[in-house]
Order: sequence, then C-alpha cells, then structure tokens
Amino acid sequence: MNFLRHPLLLSVLAAVVLYLAFAYGLQPPLPKSLLIQYMIFSVIGIIMVGTFNDETAKQMAAPIRALLGQPNLAALRAVVGVLLVVGVGWFSYDQVKPNLDAPVELRTVHPAPPGSIRVYGKSFNLLKLTNPLREKAAKGSDEYREMVGEGGELYYKNCIYCHGDLLDGRGHFADGFNPRPANFQDVGTIAQLQESYLFWRITTGGPGLPRNAAPWASAMPVWHEMLSEDEVWKIILFLYDYTGHVPRSWELETKEEGDASAKADDTAPADGKLSKEQVTAVYQKRCAHCHGDEGDGMGPAAEFMYPLPRDFTLASFKYKTTHADDEFPTDADLYNTIAEGLPGTSMPAWKDILTKAEIDALIHQIKVFGEWEEEEIEHQPIAEGTRVASTPESVARGRELFVKACVQCHGDKGRGNVTSGKVLKDDWEQRIWPRNLTRPRTWRATFDTQDVFQRISTGIRSTPMPEHTTVMKENDRWDIANYVMTLRDTAVPVDPAKTVLRGVRVAGDLPTSSDDPAWDMAAPTAFSMVPNIIKEPRLYWSLNDTVVARVLFNDTDVAIRLDVDDRTYSVPGDKLEKQYRLKDVPPTADAVAVQFPVVIPETSEKPWFRHGDKKHPVNMWYWRAPSAEPKVPAIAAILDATGPGAKPAPRTDSGLSGSGAWKDGQWSVVFRRKFATEDEADLQFEAGRYIPIAFGNWDGLAGEKGGRHAFSTWYWLLLEPEARPAVLYGVPTGMALLAALLFVLAVRRQRRSFEMNAEN
Ligand code: HEC
Ligand code: HEC
Ligand code: HEC
Repeated sequence: MNFLRHPLLLSVLAAVVLYLAFAYGLQPPLPKSLLIQYMIFSVIGIIMVGTFNDETAKQMAAPIRALLGQPNLAALRAVVGVLLVVGVGWFSYDQVKPNLDAPVELRTVHPAPPGSIRVYGKSFNLLKLTNPLREKAAKGSDEYREMVGEGGELYYKNCIYCHGDLLDGRGHFADGFNPRPANFQDVGTIAQLQESYLFWRITTGGPGLPRNAAPWASAMPVWHEMLSEDEVWKIILFLYDYTGHVPRSWELETKEEGDASAKADDTAPADGKLSKEQVTAVYQKRCAHCHGDEGDGMGPAAEFMYPLPRDFTLASFKYKTTHADDEFPTDADLYNTIAEGLPGTSMPAWKDILTKAEIDALIHQIKVFGEWEEEEIEHQPIAEGTRVASTPESVARGRELFVKACVQCHGDKGRGNVTSGKVLKDDWEQRIWPRNLTRPRTWRATFDTQDVFQRISTGIRSTPMPEHTTVMKENDRWDIANYVMTLRDTAVPVDPAKTVLRGVRVAGDLPTSSDDPAWDMAAPTAFSMVPNIIKEPRLYWSLNDTVVARVLFNDTDVAIRLDVDDRTYSVPGDKLEKQYRLKDVPPTADAVAVQFPVVIPETSEKPWFRHGDKKHPVNMWYWRAPSAEPKVPAIAAILDATGPGAKPAPRTDSGLSGSGAWKDGQWSVVFRRKFATEDEADLQFEAGRYIPIAFGNWDGLAGEKGGRHAFSTWYWLLLEPEARPAVLYGVPTGMALLAALLFVLAVRRQRRSFEMNAEN
C-alpha cells in the first residue's frame, strides 16, 4: 500500500481533483481560458510542494526517469510518446481553432443596493426605509387583507407576464428573456431580501442596477414610471403574503406566524375528496385571478390577456375529443387541459402543482359554474377508423386535401395567414387567428398525429375552426394529419441555447433580394420576440413572436436577412390590407429593425437593450413597408438612439439599403451596408468579435408603431474570422513536432544515465 503515498501519485491526484472542482464544481461554469490559467497555477503549486525537499523531489522524479530510460519499458515509452505528441497537437488545435461558443457573462444576482434612491420626486434612504403599510394595519386584519388583495390585482395586471401567476418566474413571456424573471417562490430571492431592497428593485428596475448586475440585459421594468408608491408597497405585501416568505428584517418577530399562514394555504389532502371550502380555496388561489371569482373569465389578470381566459359560465370549451355536436368535453379532456396547460396562451400547466384530487375537484367546480345538467350529458366519441401510417404517399395526399380544406384559413405554407378574405371572430366576438402550423410551440392541445386527427375531426368549439367528421372520410383526415405533422419542421425552431448568429463569409457578391439562392449558404438562427410589456406605451400581446436571421458578408459589405412570420400584409391602402384591416385600429405599415451598439463592447457591458443609453449609443437598422394610401415609399434608414427617453433620430443618407417582400404570411427583409464606413455614428464591423444584436418588429395590422412593438433582448452576431490555414494547421503541427523532439531528447538522456548506472 506504500505506493499510495507516493508523492507523484498524490500530485497527479491533487491535480485531477482541482481540475474536477474548477471544471464542474463552479456555477456558473468558468470560461475555458480562466480554467487553463487556474490549472497552470495549480500544477506549478503542486510541483513546488512535491519537490519541497531533495528526498521527495527524487521520489517524484524516479518513476518519470524510469519511464524515459529503463530498457525494459520501451513499449510503454513508445505509447506514452505517441499520446504526448498527439495530445499536444490536439490541445494546440483546440486553442487556435475559431471558438463559436457564446462568451460567458457573469452577473451578480443580488448586488448591494445604493444607500438612497430618488423616485417619485423625493429621496428614499434604503437603510432606514420600511414598508409603511405594515404600520397602517396589523398582519391578518381586514384592512391588511384588503391591501394584500389590491397588491395581488396589481401584480396580476402588471407582473404576471414575466414572473408568472404562481410567482415562480415562468410567465407567458419569460422564455424570451435572459436573465429570466426572478422566481419569488425560490428561497434565493425575496426570502433573503428586505422590503426596502424590493422597493428599490421594483421602482428602478433593470436600469437601476449597478454594473456588476448587468443592467443592460435586465428586462425588469422601471415601475415608478407606471405605478404609484402606495401601489408598489401593496405589491410587496402581496409577494410575501402569497409565497409565505417573510422579509429579512421581520424574521425574528413574525417567523412563526409566517409559517403558520403558509400552511393554512395548503388546502388539499393528497388523495380523497375535498370539502366544498377546500375546493373554493384552491380555485380562489389558483384560478380566480384569471377566470374570475364567479368563473366568468373576468379575473383581474384577464384585462390585457389574449386569448381571454375561458368564461366557465358559458360552458363552452375548445379542446375536446368528442363529436362536434356534443356540447361538453369529457372529464378526461378537461383533465388534460388543466394538467398540461395550453401552450402559447397564459393558461399554465398544473400537473406539478395540483394533486389529482384537486384537479378533479376543480373539474366539478367548473361544471357548477356552467350549471351542467350532468345526467343529460351524453358523449359521442369520434370514430378513428384505421389509422393511416405516415408514408410519403399519405403526406402527398394530405397536402392535396389541405389545399382544399385548410389553406383558406391556415395559408399555403401553414403560417396561419387567412387567404379567404374573411375576418375571423370567435363566439365572444374577438378577432381570432388560425394557428401558425409551422410553430409547434404555440399549438395549444395538439402534440402528436392523433391529436391533429382529433382537432380536424371535432374542430375547435366557439372558434371558426370547423369540424370535419361530416365532410371528410376518416382516412382523409389521417392523411391531412400526417401532412400537418410535417409542417412542424418547415420553420427554423427557436433553440434557447443558440444565442449566437453566425455571419458567413462569401467570396463573391452579396444578395440584394430575399429570394436569392445565395442565402442558402447562410446559417439561419431563430430568436424569440416578446411584446413590449416593459415601458409605456405598453403592448400586451403580439401575433409575431419569432424572427429568423441570416447574415452573409464579404470584404466590402454586410447583408442581413430577417424573416418574420406575419399573417397580414400591412401596406396601408393596399387591397390585401383593406380586407383584414380592423375598424378601430388606424392602418399602419409593417416594419422590422436590427439593433447594434455603435461601439463593439470590450467587456460584457452593453448598451441597455432597449435603445441603448447616453454612454452607449446604438444603431437601429430600420425598414418600413410602403403605404398605398397615402402613397409613401418603403423606408430604409439607420436610427441613432441613446436611450428609451430620447426619440431615435433617422439618418436616411446612411448608406443602408433595404428591401422587403411579403409572401405566404411572412415578411422577408434584406438589409445591406458597407462593412466599414467613414461615419463615427456607425458601428464598424469586425470579423471574429462578438457583436451584440437585437431585433424589433412592428405588426401594422395590430396598430403597432413607436414603442408598441415586439422585440428581442441582446443576442450575439459573430462574423466568421478569416480562415487562416497556416495558423490553424501550422501551429498544432509545430507544437507536436516540438513535443516529439523534447521527448526524444529526454529519452536519450535518461537512457544514457541508465546505461551508465548499469556499467557501474
Ligand atoms: C418584462 C418582464 C418583467 C415584468 C413585467 C416584471 N419583471 Fe420583475 N424582473 C424581470 C427580470 C428579467 C428580472 C431578473 C433580472 C433583474 O434582477 O433585474 C426581474 C427581477 C425582479 C425582482 C428582483 C428579485 C431579486 O431576487 O432580486 C423583483 C423584486 C421584481 N422583478 C418584481 C417585479 C414586480 C413587482 C413586477 C410587477 C409590478 C415585475 N417585477 C414585473 C422581468 C420582469
Ligand atoms: C394566468 C391565467 C390563467 C390561470 C391562472 C388559469 N387559466 Fe385556465 N385559461 C386561461 C386562458 C387564457 C385560457 C384560454 C385559452 C384559449 O382560449 O386558447 C384558459 C382556458 C381554460 C380552460 C378551457 C379549455 C378549453 O378547452 O376551452 C379550462 C378548463 C381552464 N382554463 C381551467 C383552469 C383551471 C382549473 C385553473 C386553475 C387551476 C386555471 N384554468 C387557471 C388562463 C388561465
Ligand atoms: C374557417 C377557418 C379554418 C379552417 C377552414 C381550418 N381551420 Fe384550423 N384553426 C382555425 C382557427 C381560428 C384556429 C385557432 C383556434 C384558437 O386559437 O382557439 C385553428 C387551429 C387549428 C389547429 C391548432 C390546434 C391547437 O392545439 O393549437 C390545428 C392543428 C388546425 N387548426 C388544423 C386545421 C386543419 C388541418 C384544417 C383543414 C382540415 C383546418 N385547421 C381548417 C381556423 C380554421
């Protein structure tokens, strides 16, 4: 067992342990360059300790010398030599090859607050600030409950889109933000904080953060612009009340009380039936803020939601597996909706939060709201016939049937652009749009071919989506279902892990129009867009939620193509535009934009993602569709912006060209600019550098203009560095040769010393 204490083995072990700790033990992970630095220092340290005295130094060296020189180890020596040479070559290649990973950005989650802040025209000392409402009313009193209730309403109206109805940071638009909205249920957020800290964060939002917290990336709005001081304190009361957390400074006095009230909220037994009070309590806590206290769909959060939460008193449901004539869904249908939620709407998935017993009880409650006459309900299931396998023939037949039965609403490419000329409305007289079948992340209750078959058969109740059992045979419906499933793969999907848009270098000319086949060379990347729920004038929902970007460049120019799914061609006054125009929304032209910082940042510090700031100006490449009445040509201009307060100033002589075409429910816009310009106000591109990039889109039909539009936060653009074969292959080969040479020299030397020892 003595070899276990051998200094060389211990040193190797120490190095391995340190490597594992640095590489996997730290969150967020260390960037590679830092990891290499840490390891170099560690190895030097270990060698210094290991060779502390002559004795251990000799011990350390002995096995290495033996390996290099001992005659009977020739085979092992050869293997080690080859591994060493290959290893060095591979490592150097890894170092010089172009790195396409997004840069790691570190961010302090809870930075130290400033001593005082100025909002609402006065100064607040954060060290002394306490929640004035806590003095006004004792916890648990009627007045206190009333204030919590008002705080809740304000929360559901303003914060739910990002922080979620469960306060878990998983609101409808949360996926569009990085960093993600805070999860207040997590003990790492408000449970650790004082109320004055929250007051600071809520009133001043992302822009109020210090630099180490990356204010430029935070989508957290500046609420003192939109809510009063009193309202912010009420929301804070609500946040603690709902989560059962206790604010930091209150811990000692009220801890027990806080815990007790959290328990009292936990309503349900794991199994078994719930009492009437328990059902009401679950409904009130989980559903009422959207679906309303009385189930009428008019909860406080409903005001700006699209689609609206269901009105249970009407007993009309969209997603069911029974015949279209059946008024009611089955319990299993309702169970599925409640458990899985409805993606693409605000309706959350409840399966991880509620027990089966609770969901069953809620289903009963829904029936009570709708006054169902349970005895009179009969369900006719849909006959499925024999399922048709998804073969190329079936898909081709499905396509033909799709053209006849579905294109009028879902569009030729399935993007949900109505071609019939009709304005579609649901039973609640709300404008409704057929689903974009190329974006499965917004499909509500449809996950596989069988579900599509079901939807086609039953239709979607209360909406124009028709039933097909009476007009189409079962095998035809299966063929269409097979075809519809192939549409899922026709659009580039959003992958949250892909944050880098790669610009591809081309030898020849760049394309000027979107249908140029040269675009096939580019690497398309899709990014999520969210409506501007951040700053007045706010926009609460937007039909266009994805942008697909491509970039090509050569020595003189850069070309960017943006594809945005947009169901309507909003060129005011055009025939197509007039068909779908909304009466109460003034016609506006569609537009898109790309945003860059004027100066490529050296550190992770960027301009604020909405229009930059005074120190960090941005360029927005803006293209707007033309108008037919009044006649206005399309515009391509660079807008210079220095923050959300200042109006962006357009530069039409900026040398930016732009052209756009709308086809089958999609705008495709191409921007082109010189790679380098003389103007100081312009971004100067550099290949091989990470350039922050963000996107914007205005849907004219919805009256989106000015600040009311969809946008993305910052992503990265990386223009491919020039391939340098001399470096890429020369350096690793050179390093490998050097390693081989050194190894051979070392071996020769040790061999000789072994021979000499043998002679003696
Ligand atoms: C547009 C999305 C969005 C909306 C709307 C929004 N937030 Fe946030 N919020 C964020 C993001 C993103 C973060 C995380 C980044 C940060 O800390 O700034 C955050 C962070 C916070 C934090 C800091 C938590 C911590 O642990 O440091 C608080 C408190 C907060 N939000 C409260 C609110 C309240 C209250 C509202 C409604 C009045 C609201 N937010 C509305 C996006 C949003
Ligand atoms: C954050 C808001 C929100 C909350 C909370 C919420 N819902 Fe919904 N719910 C919606 C919206 C929005 C729709 C409508 C979606 C649509 O029309 O496509 C909906 C639809 C429904 C439907 C109708 C499905 C159909 O086929 O028509 C049921 C049933 C339902 N919700 C049950 C519940 C229950 C039970 C709860 C509480 C456990 C709950 N919801 C909580 C927003 C919410
Ligand atoms: C008269 C217009 C109309 C026709 C014709 C029509 N649909 Fe729809 N379809 C809609 C509307 C509107 C919706 C969205 C309903 C909603 O959001 O509540 C929809 C939704 C869908 C969905 C989404 C289901 C989900 O879970 O999100 C699918 C799938 C679908 N339709 C397939 C088809 C197919 C296949 C056909 C042809 C057989 C077809 N539709 C014909 C109007 C139509």
